[in-house]
Amino acid sequence: AKQSVRHATYLILGKPGGGKGTISKKILASHEGFVHISTGDILREEVNKGSEIGLKAKGIMESGGLLPDDLMVDLVSSSISSLPTPPKHLLLDGFPRTMPQAVALDAVVPVEHVISLDIPNSVIVERTSDRWLSPSTNKVYSYSYQPPKVHGKCDDTGEDLVQREDDKPESVLRRLETYDEMTKPLNDYYSEKGILEGFDGETSDVIFGKVTKWLDGH
Ligand code: AP5
Repeated sequence: AKQSVRHATYLILGKPGGGKGTISKKILASHEGFVHISTGDILREEVNKGSEIGLKAKGIMESGGLLPDDLMVDLVSSSISSLPTPPKHLLLDGFPRTMPQAVALDAVVPVEHVISLDIPNSVIVERTSDRWLSPSTNKVYSYSYQPPKVHGKCDDTGEDLVQREDDKPESVLRRLETYDEMTKPLNDYYSEKGILEGFDGETSDVIFGKVTKWLDGH
């Protein structure tokens, strides 16, 4: 049975390829009332649709850079305000990613809890090279961790699995640099507010065990 926790807004922070999406999905599957907003998933959808935002985002994402802050703040504010009913818990993944985004978010919705994941860079480079996606649903597979039932095919749609352009090694290294420069300082920002909870470990299963214990206990 799903566990319920107190109403709040949660952020999940961490390096690119560090398991934010994986841990978010496990939280949604095990706890009631969460709505997950992933800016990476939203942008990949826009790229697939070939929308105006998607065309702008494609090159920036492939090279491992960041989209402009004002565009991202608008995108997230409108995703939150267009939710059909206000969720019990909001789980923001991939946003904020810069100090200006964090400051802007404070004016949109108060953040109560920040889940900060810490994974060694060597593990990240290994994992991103083994990440495969279903092109229409963005469902994530990896041959070492969550393999598809049939090699190279999505379990749900049967489509050929594809790799993300930004999972090429040179792009991953650039994303790790962007993270250190732009996103890492957010850990101090939230730590000073007293709302940051850090989780480390080399596998999402170990990390998720710790996250669940904390979610159910606070
Ligand atoms: P985004 O999609 O947010 O990319 P990211 O931060 O680089 O995070 P990832 O999606 O790569 O990884 P993840 O941490 O979710 O890891 P996952 O669970 O998949 O953003 C993409 C781009 O969009 C950005 O680079 C930027 O250009 C733009 N963008 C987005 N938001 C923005 C913003 N706010 N401002 C400006 N620009 C923005 O795990 C990774 C892999 O590891 C998977 O293959 C998974 O199967 C595997 N794995 C997970 N757990 C385990 C385990 N325990 N053992 C083995 N393998 C595992």
